[in-house]
Amino acid sequence: MKIAVLAGDGIGPEIMEQALRVLDRLALPGLELTSCDVGGAGYKAHGHPLPPATLAAAKAADAVLFGAVGDPDCDNLERALRPEQAILGLRRELELFANLRPATMFKGLEDMSGLKPEIAGAIDLLIVRELNGDVYFGDKGIRTLDDGRRQGWDMMAYAEDEVRRIAHVGFRAAQGRAKKLCSVDKANVLETSQLWRDVVIETAAEYPDVELSHMYVDNAAMQLVRNPGQFDVVVTGNLFGDILSDQASMCVGSIGLLASASLGAELTQYGTKGLYEPIHGSAPDIAGQGKANPMAMILSLAMMLRHSFSLEAQAVRIEAAVAGALGDGVLGGDLGGNAGTAEIGEAVLARL
Ligand code: NAD
Ligand code: IPM
Ligand code: MN
Repeated sequence: MKIAVLAGDGIGPEIMEQALRVLDRLALPGLELTSCDVGGAGYKAHGHPLPPATLAAAKAADAVLFGAVGDPDCDNLERALRPEQAILGLRRELELFANLRPATMFKGLEDMSGLKPEIAGAIDLLIVRELNGDVYFGDKGIRTLDDGRRQGWDMMAYAEDEVRRIAHVGFRAAQGRAKKLCSVDKANVLETSQLWRDVVIETAAEYPDVELSHMYVDNAAMQLVRNPGQFDVVVTGNLFGDILSDQASMCVGSIGLLASASLGAELTQYGTKGLYEPIHGSAPDIAGQGKANPMAMILSLAMMLRHSFSLEAQAVRIEAAVAGALGDGVLGGDLGGNAGTAEIGEAVLARL
C-alpha cells in the first residue's frame, strides 16, 4: 500500500507529523511511505513547486497524503512557479475530478460555531466539488486593450461530460446518505451554469430515488448560514465549491476541522486512488508556532483509509478519536482553546 506523503509549506509539515503518528499507531501491515517536497518547499529545493520526482511518486502511489502549500516568499513568482500550482497540477495530472468535503457538527462543539447552537447542531452535509475544470483551468491572462487599459481575464467553461461525471458522484453520494442533492450554480447569469444545470437534470433521470433541487450560489451562501441543516449533498463547480466549503467549515466551528478526498476514476487493488488534504491552506500567520489544529489533517488520513484502502473500521476509529478529543474539550486556538498541535495529536492517539 504505497502512500506519497507531501507535507508542503507553512503548517503542512506540523500537521502531517501528527497524522503520521496516528497512522503509525494503527500499525497497518504493508505500508510503504515516500516523502517528497512540494509547493514552496519544492520550488526552493528543486526549482519547481511540483518537481518531477514528486509527481512521479504521486503517480506511482495508491494514495497521496497532502498537507498544504503556499508560501508568501513565492507570491510574486510567475504563476507557473507558485506553490499553489503544485496542488492544481496534481489534481489535473492524476485526473482527480471529484472533491468530497464533508462538514458535520461534532457533538459538544455547537457553541463554537459562528451560528446559533441549535442551527449549527443540524449540520450534516457533504460538498461534492468539481476539481478539474471551471475558471481554474481555462485560459487566462492579463492583456492590454486597444485603448491602453490592462484587462485581466479568466475563461470559465465546463464541457458536458465534465458536468455529467461529477453529477453522478453527487447522486451516488446522496443515495448513500439522506437522498437529497442540491446542485448549486449561477444559471441566472452564466451560460456555463446553464449547461451545468441542464446536464444535472438529464443525469437525474438515472436516480429517481434522489430528490434533486437547484440553488443559485448567492442564495446557497445565505442558506448555509440561515439553515445549513437543509443540505444533504451539495454538488457544485470548482470555484463555488472552494468558497462554500470554507464557509461551511466556519459553520461547523473552524477551518481546522474540515478534511477532503479528491478522487478520480482510477481503481487500485485496494480501493480508489485519491489525494487527501485538509481544506485549509498553509496558514503562514501561525506556521512554526505549534499552534495549528491537526484535526483536519488527521481526518483526511481517515478519509484515505476509507476510500483508497477500504479500511472503513480504521477510518471510523480515527474519526471517533477526534470526536472524542473534541467532546472532552481538547480545543486548539482556532476553536477558542489553548491546545497546541502536538497536544491535540497526543489527545487523538490516546483515544484511538
Ligand atoms: P489558510 O486556510 O491558510 O488560513 C486562513 C486562516 O485560517 C488563517 O488565519 C490561519 O491561521 C487559519 N487556519 C487555517 N488552518 C488552520 C489550522 N489547521 N489550525 C488553526 N488555524 C488555521 O488560508 P489563506 O491565509 O488564505 O492562505 C494561506 C496560503 O495557503 C496561501 O498561499 C494559499 O494560496 C494557500 N492555500 C493552500 C491550500 C492547499 O494547500 N490546498 C488551501 C488554501 C489555501
Ligand atoms: C483549496 C485551495 C486551493 C483551491 C488553492 C490553494 C489552489 O483553496 O484546496 O481549497 O482553490 O482549490
Ligand atoms: Mn480553498
